[in-house]
Amino acid sequence: MSIDIIIGAQWGDEGKGRITDLLAAETEIVGRYSGGDNAGHTVTVNGEVFKLHLIPSGIVHNNVTCLIGNGTVINPAVLLQEMDALTARGVDVSPRRLKISLNAHLITPAHIAMDKAHEADRGADAIGTTQRGIGPAYTDKTERSGLRAELFAEPEALADAIQLHVAAKNRVLTAVFGADPLDADVIAAEFAGYAKRLAPHLVNGPVYLDQALQDGRSILAEGAQGTLLDIDHGTYPFVTSSSPTVGGVITGLGVGPKHIGRIIGVAKAFTSRVGSGPFPCELEGEMAEWLRGTGDKPWDEFGTTTGRPRRVGWLDLVMLRHAVRINSLTEIMLTKLDILSGLPHINVCIAYEMNGKRVDYFPTNLDQLGQCQPIFETLPGWEEDIMDARKLSDLPENAQKYIAYVSESLGVPITYASVGPGRVQGVFVK
Ligand code: GDP
Ligand code: IMO
Ligand code: MG
Repeated sequence: MSIDIIIGAQWGDEGKGRITDLLAAETEIVGRYSGGDNAGHTVTVNGEVFKLHLIPSGIVHNNVTCLIGNGTVINPAVLLQEMDALTARGVDVSPRRLKISLNAHLITPAHIAMDKAHEADRGADAIGTTQRGIGPAYTDKTERSGLRAELFAEPEALADAIQLHVAAKNRVLTAVFGADPLDADVIAAEFAGYAKRLAPHLVNGPVYLDQALQDGRSILAEGAQGTLLDIDHGTYPFVTSSSPTVGGVITGLGVGPKHIGRIIGVAKAFTSRVGSGPFPCELEGEMAEWLRGTGDKPWDEFGTTTGRPRRVGWLDLVMLRHAVRINSLTEIMLTKLDILSGLPHINVCIAYEMNGKRVDYFPTNLDQLGQCQPIFETLPGWEEDIMDARKLSDLPENAQKYIAYVSESLGVPITYASVGPGRVQGVFVK
């Protein structure tokens, strides 16, 4: 069997959770390979809404086992809250169904304090992080001083590691940022409690997945964030601290590339971004409000994790070509096509103009990107509400043409277009 992969093709919030839920029906294992609770993935089943941050979206399907992979960073307090909330709604999150890789890294209150202190220190240049401690936890991992989930199985080593970790962070928090020190004993006691509950979920991720592949079980890798938030291939430094792109799957789950099957890019029918950083196709005013919504509908563009209004703009094919290239996308699944209903014309960015020259690639240099002006192709819109469409021919001709235009421009098939948040609200294109 192979591993199919779901990757955000834009700046996150493309609808990866929704697409994971769609494909999980025919999958046995769903694994998260990167990020932490900076992610917010919404799954809507029969009107019931699940908002997941760390637990793979496949958990909503009874037949699926979920793995939080070694490439992730886990705040155990948030994970346990999420597990308790799911249990209260009748979802089984026992160790049989939810597994945590031994080598995943932990986020502590000290990482969160560091994230907040760094952001405050950056002032006007703040990244706009989710303040969940993501950057500092990945920094510790790379700097080789991180705490790994394996410590949950060794209470004494965990207590010692927390003492050393908090003491080290307190030195920086107090001396560099002038912040109050954290109480290591309190944090060590909290973590001892988390360890008791989470230790039974620990597995050796690569061994578990290798065995699953040998047994012929199907695996889906659920991405968090998106290609343009990638630490290497995104709009650095306005990015997250991990690799949400295809390379992150291989390192973040511990599987080799020969097992990879479909590489599915999820793209919204327009573009959104939360936090600071360049956004060549960004819109303001009435058109932005149309795409964002006012917040009265559950799918309006306000962050699942932070509640912040998302910045919005037209679909950017330059950026999507970058995502196709970086990830070797084999197909694209388009979401939120319904939001474009009612517009007389729809703009699609086909290239940029930079200092009088046409540019067809996505510059990753911030100054260059700041000089890029979008060149738009204007396509005809459609009037009809399409939320009840269930097959391609249910869509108005211009919606079908929009899908075909995007697909042809990218040279990648669009295999599915969603027209609402619910599991059944979408059309398979081929
Ligand atoms: P993720 O982080 O990529 O999983 O995306 P989010 O869940 O943060 O944001 C996507 C939002 O759009 C959620 O509220 C989804 O329920 C909603 N959504 C997904 N697909 C569609 C769609 O086709 N139409 C509409 N109206 N909402 C959708
Ligand atoms: P999902 O999985 C959208 C953004 C933050 C900020 C930057 C760095 O729901 O698509 P971080 O806290 O990671 O250090 O913040 O990355 N960001 C996201 N934006 N969707 C996400 O996840 C995001 N995760 C991080 O807003 O700009
Ligand atoms: Mg999200």
